[in-house]
Amino acid sequence: DTYEVDMDNCPSKVLDILNKIKNEIDPTIAYRRSCAHGVCGSCAMNVDGVNTLSCIKSHTDVKGDLNIYPLPHLRVIKDLIGDLSVLYKQYESIQPWLKTDQTGQEKKEIIQSQKDRSKLDGYYECILCACCSTSCPSYWWNSDKYLGPAVLLQSYRWLQDSRDEAKSERLKELDDTFKVYRCHTIMNCTQTCPKGLNPAKAIAGIKTMIATNRT
Ligand code: SF4
Ligand code: F3S
Ligand code: FES
Repeated sequence: DTYEVDMDNCPSKVLDILNKIKNEIDPTIAYRRSCAHGVCGSCAMNVDGVNTLSCIKSHTDVKGDLNIYPLPHLRVIKDLIGDLSVLYKQYESIQPWLKTDQTGQEKKEIIQSQKDRSKLDGYYECILCACCSTSCPSYWWNSDKYLGPAVLLQSYRWLQDSRDEAKSERLKELDDTFKVYRCHTIMNCTQTCPKGLNPAKAIAGIKTMIATNRT
């Protein structure tokens, strides 16, 4: 559909424009949003050919008409809402929680040094918006078997956590021709991440860790 919006009376972010369309022109238009401040990851969509967060993307970055699409290569549920159920299943598969050998009453706080904590920088900030995975051609064609950059960056975050005691098992689980090795360093993921993160670097780190774990 095409909508004409009075921009003299609308804030500049793409999400504001969508809200104005929904409130004043077409209440049926469907899209996800929550925080409106770039922290929840809900409002990811493709704006003029680039996957991004509509709540932080300004229409002034785009010349002429604004073309807005759902994230690429997802089944469309309605309008700008793509089906992320495969990605969430893949996220669940990497067991994104701290695993320790501590049991029952023995459980106690695990201290982490500032140096070890800083190893999570660049990874803990990921908001799982899926902009990176849906920009990756390898993920487009193999999303049933390749985990994709978003899930692999999350996986690396746990591999880097000094408090986690399941590193070797996690690496064995990832050591598969499809799960990690379908990354061919295309770099769309890092280029598009609206949080400025580098999933390609995380994937390279995982590959190195897998090779070391084998020996
Ligand atoms: Fe989104 Fe960036 Fe996380 Fe990918 S790495 S899911 S683009 S925040
Ligand atoms: Fe895809 Fe990024 Fe690798 S775009 S192929 S995950 S470097
Ligand atoms: Fe939360 Fe955009 S609405 S990141």
